[in-house]
Amino acid sequence: MDTMKLTATRLKAEQLLSKMTPEEKLGQLGQVAMLKSLHPISYYVDGVRAGRWGSRILADSEWAGNEMGQRIDIESLNAIQKVAVEESRLGIPLLHARDVIYGHGTVLPIPLGQAASWNPELVEQAYQCIAREARDMGIHWTFAPMMDICRDPRWGRVIESSGEDPILTSKLTQAVIRGFQGKDLQEPGRLLACAKHFCGYGFSEGGRDYDTTEISPHTLHNVVLAPFRAAVQESVATVMTSFNDLGGTPVSGSQKLVRQWLKGQQNFEGLVVSDWASIADLERFGVSKNSEEAALRGFNSGIDMAMTSDIYDDHLPKLLEEGRLSREQLDDSVLRILEAKFKLGLFEQPYADEEASKISWRAQEHLNFAQKLASESVVMLRNQHDLLPLSPKGIRLAVLGPYACAKRQALGSWCIDGLTEDVTSILDGIRRFAPELDILTTPSSFSDEMIAQARMADVVVLCVGESHVSNGEAKSKANLSLPPGQEDIIEAIGKTGKPLVIIQCTGRPIPSPATERYASTILQAWHGGTEMGKALAEIIFGKTSPSGKMPMTVPRCTGQIPTYYAQKPRGKALGVPQYRAYEDEDEKPLYPFGYGLSYGKFKYQNLNVQNKQIDSDEKNFASVELINVGNIAATEVAQCYIHVRGGDRTRSSKTLIDFQRQHLEAGESCILHFELSPEHWMSYDEQGQPQPLSSGEITVYIGGHSNIEHGAIFNVVERQRC
Ligand code: GLC
Repeated sequence: MDTMKLTATRLKAEQLLSKMTPEEKLGQLGQVAMLKSLHPISYYVDGVRAGRWGSRILADSEWAGNEMGQRIDIESLNAIQKVAVEESRLGIPLLHARDVIYGHGTVLPIPLGQAASWNPELVEQAYQCIAREARDMGIHWTFAPMMDICRDPRWGRVIESSGEDPILTSKLTQAVIRGFQGKDLQEPGRLLACAKHFCGYGFSEGGRDYDTTEISPHTLHNVVLAPFRAAVQESVATVMTSFNDLGGTPVSGSQKLVRQWLKGQQNFEGLVVSDWASIADLERFGVSKNSEEAALRGFNSGIDMAMTSDIYDDHLPKLLEEGRLSREQLDDSVLRILEAKFKLGLFEQPYADEEASKISWRAQEHLNFAQKLASESVVMLRNQHDLLPLSPKGIRLAVLGPYACAKRQALGSWCIDGLTEDVTSILDGIRRFAPELDILTTPSSFSDEMIAQARMADVVVLCVGESHVSNGEAKSKANLSLPPGQEDIIEAIGKTGKPLVIIQCTGRPIPSPATERYASTILQAWHGGTEMGKALAEIIFGKTSPSGKMPMTVPRCTGQIPTYYAQKPRGKALGVPQYRAYEDEDEKPLYPFGYGLSYGKFKYQNLNVQNKQIDSDEKNFASVELINVGNIAATEVAQCYIHVRGGDRTRSSKTLIDFQRQHLEAGESCILHFELSPEHWMSYDEQGQPQPLSSGEITVYIGGHSNIEHGAIFNVVERQRC
């Protein structure tokens, strides 16, 4: 949005603010859930008329993400909005918020699956589609993208993340913000986006949701906060504070993080909302002696709006009267909320348009983008003897396993509006793509019947995984393994000796010993959304080549966690030749970050850096030749990493700095170029201040995953001041 418009919305907000009473100002700071289990609807209508709330969260319970919520009834939504606009004193409309995390009528793959596409452009297009569907239904504000860096797949909410890397996460969440917000929030089909969960929530100890997080300032500023800096640079409209305690301070009560770093140092001008009653949690953490103190601490920390709790309602009027609440800070918070409403054009267009919603709901263009993203999210981890792609004719194919016909599970655990009947299952997708194929399957879940079918087939596609009920919020696992019985089914079918394609429909990386032992081909397909079955069929029969790359390391076993590619050098170990990380397990993960195969065969050669030495404020350039030496066209995600030796802090053995998707026909080659700049090798100090690298040695690696051994070296030297 250009500066002039920003000024106009700020001016409008200030003019409105000047007319508001203190009660009306305080009213804007509350977000209400209108849960019928708590009060009759008349209670909420009266409150809206009195200007008691500034926003309404469209959730049916605090577990909105894990339960299919009631569908949005546009008529009743408009009716209550009409009370706000036409019956309250100043006619300030409500901001309607909902968890449109990765879909609405059209449901995309879970964000961790989307991240495997390494395709920000496609993610942006897909999110424009779901933003359209949601806005037409009267939603104004979504609580996405989630940008928690996560290195522990035991944590159930890893499914909502973009994985373990700050650069991949930053680029994808910026794409989601652009998809939701566009260039002008007043355009049709735009939503306020929300950078969440600020911050560090993904480091929950033991992978246990809501547990404490111990993060060094160095990791906080150089890893955890990177996506939030990127989100603010992308003009994200709102930020949500997280549930977790970070190094002794609950983030939803941290002035240092919210008011000083986010609003101060980053100059974030949007609105900050708490997470679900996370201000009230300050009392549970024992850092506030009662809810009044919690309310005061939450507000003073910089939280403008309290999600689903009356804690501001109940206590801020008295605190304001007693002079314990800053009137200037109150005005600042209200201005941020009013400005968000003006930016959205809510005063001009407060109501949803039922007819528009019928047109945009699951429009064909939306389904096309969702299918493409589902396809590019699939990671092929193995393909022995080039078993895939299969011919769509002339073979007897068994499609078996608990996920062959799965539908609800494909929607994942944060899906409120998607409909199960809109999901194309894997079996349906295969049947539609290859109608002439002799497909064997068994509707039963009895393994002996599956084995019998497998024996009669030429090739077996076995669909396994974990369902949406065992991941998501407050759904963490101590043992990273497939649900009970699936290892046995894989082994039993594996022992038939038939060529076996295993499709893993999981919400996170899960090692499977039987899969590793018996599968010829492994496809990590995630919870792929409504179009999952269509996407997988195109890959199985070769219409599309898989191109996904793991956005997260796949551990060999739970005991390896945390395991991630950007690990720090183990000082002493580098001097101990006989060093082993574990006595009882290989230290290498099952599959490294960034790994994924395609039907092409990609070879990298002639890596070159332009300058062997540069001044500390200069750029450099790296190039590499990429060849598809296979006989099928495919797309490669070339990844550029660096290792820095220098400065006074330990640096990760590799750091992703950039990546490029490159399509090559069979036999085709190209030269890829990567720009290397001081921002790639600078770091942040413990106060979050940028620390340029004055001198050091940098090794550049470019390849198809993070486990690249050979790089090219250049030196950075301090510029000599003449
Ligand atoms: C939940 C989640 C948050 C979500 C919010 C509203 O508890 O932590 O991600 O957006 O509440 O449903």
